[in-house]
Amino acid sequence: MNHNTSINYELSLKYWAEIPPTVDGVLGGFGFISNADIEGSKLFLKSLFALGNGPAPNLALDCGAGIGRITKFLLIPNFQKVDVIEPDEKFINAIADFVGDNNSKVETLYKVSLQEFTPEKKYDVIWNQWVLGYLTDDDLVLYLNRCRDALTENGVVVVKENVTSSGAAEKDEADSSVTRSLKDYMRIFKKANLKRIKQCKQTNFPSGIYPVYMFALVPNTRIPEISYTTRLRSTHHNAT
Ligand SMILES: C[S@@+](CC[C@H](N)C(=O)[O-])C[C@H]1O[C@@H](n2cnc3c(N)ncnc32)[C@H](O)[C@@H]1O
Repeated sequence: MNHNTSINYELSLKYWAEIPPTVDGVLGGFGFISNADIEGSKLFLKSLFALGNGPAPNLALDCGAGIGRITKFLLIPNFQKVDVIEPDEKFINAIADFVGDNNSKVETLYKVSLQEFTPEKKYDVIWNQWVLGYLTDDDLVLYLNRCRDALTENGVVVVKENVTSSGAAEKDEADSSVTRSLKDYMRIFKKANLKRIKQCKQTNFPSGIYPVYMFALVPNTRIPEISYTTRLRSTHHNAT
């Protein structure tokens, strides 16, 4: 299914403009799942750092950051510096207070929507969570392409999003967003020339909400560590 006609960017922004700058606000009344979410993300990030060719812990980008929940609890403890993108003025203005003592680690705040944003090529991890449903398919492919081009040598794009269990996409008229199926995401990642190096389903969430998946994506031109090692071995073998 293509979600190009069904998303209204103005309506999404209006929706978020009415939401209070709190954890419960940015999580749509599900503030109580924040700790479990962050714990799941920490494990996922740890597994990326543990890769032989994992991302460096220098600079992360928090996309659709809200009040900086992920910046504060996940990215600041794991990176030297964090940049954020958030289009809502009240949310972006709340970040410094919400982050508190470690706010000096927040470097640049971009008040812009993802579909209009081109990140500079300097990010080790680009974290996209609970925000990609606000983009049309076409804009999402273009945006992910730009993210891919903005990665450092071993950089990773992370996507953490709700997916439908029915396999079909579902529209939410209230905030003009779409919840995609796993198949939709696979098709979009492929179009953006990104390949999955890790995928994980979030655990410890209450029943009755959408399943949440984490994907670690790298440019599909990047040579996987394993085949690189294999090639070195076979070269060595041939040479002796
Ligand atoms: C469900 S909240 C999630 C916030 C944050 N990622 C978190 O998990 O705490 C969605 C956020 O996406 C932002 N947003 C909505 N449409 C957007 C767009 N087109 N580009 C960037 N951010 C957008 C909203 O302002 C809001 O802060």
